[in-house]
Amino acid sequence: MGTTATVREPEFPVDRLFLDRWSPRAFSPEPIPHATLMTLFEAARWAPSCFNDQPWYFLYASEESGLQKMRAILVEKNRQWASKAPVLALVCSQKFFKHNSQPNRWGAFDAGAAWMSLALQASMLGLCVHGMGGFDVDAAYSTLGLNREKVDIHAAVAIGRMGDPKLLPEDMASREGPSQRRPLAEVVRVIS
Ligand SMILES: Cc1cc2nc3c(=O)[nH]c(=O)nc-3n(C[C@H](O)[C@H](O)[C@H](O)COP(=O)(O)O)c2cc1C
Repeated sequence: MGTTATVREPEFPVDRLFLDRWSPRAFSPEPIPHATLMTLFEAARWAPSCFNDQPWYFLYASEESGLQKMRAILVEKNRQWASKAPVLALVCSQKFFKHNSQPNRWGAFDAGAAWMSLALQASMLGLCVHGMGGFDVDAAYSTLGLNREKVDIHAAVAIGRMGDPKLLPEDMASREGPSQRRPLAEVVRVIS
């Protein structure tokens, strides 16, 4: 599953969009125009959500001061490659529904849908996005002044253009490429 391959072959026909998106570690530091970045968040905005609550919440850094804060919260292994990315973001969600203040147990599901929309839009524009669970959650809450009682921080995300894989550390360079997936039969089961 972790094996890299140059070609992704679906078992059933799907749009190339789903196959062409993958998560590189080699980023080019070339800045992303503000309007392009907003197009990515705009794609995320139209994701479906429980009660149309839209619990997702994105914090992003594209200027040096904000990027330094974001780099500081990443685990070292991620910092090694993600520090080159021109945009680093956090995917968060509000823990409580807006209409009745009750806990929203679908927030992670909805934020996941929103982040995938962002990632697919990026891929369609020739950009790349790489999600990261490897960051210091406590540091993220304190550095960014987020309220742990109200907000979940799901993932960090690097956004940018693909860079030169030869500039990566060897262990990362050798793994750079689209990965494979488990067989469809392992993840789909009919209810009888
Ligand atoms: C929630 C989440 C957390 C992840 N955490 C990391 C991470 O900390 N470091 C990393 O290099 N990749 C991370 N990844 C990337 C996954 O390893 C990658 O998406 C997976 O291997 C599938 O490969 P693909 O995105 O290239 O198709 C993460 C992805 C997701 C969605």
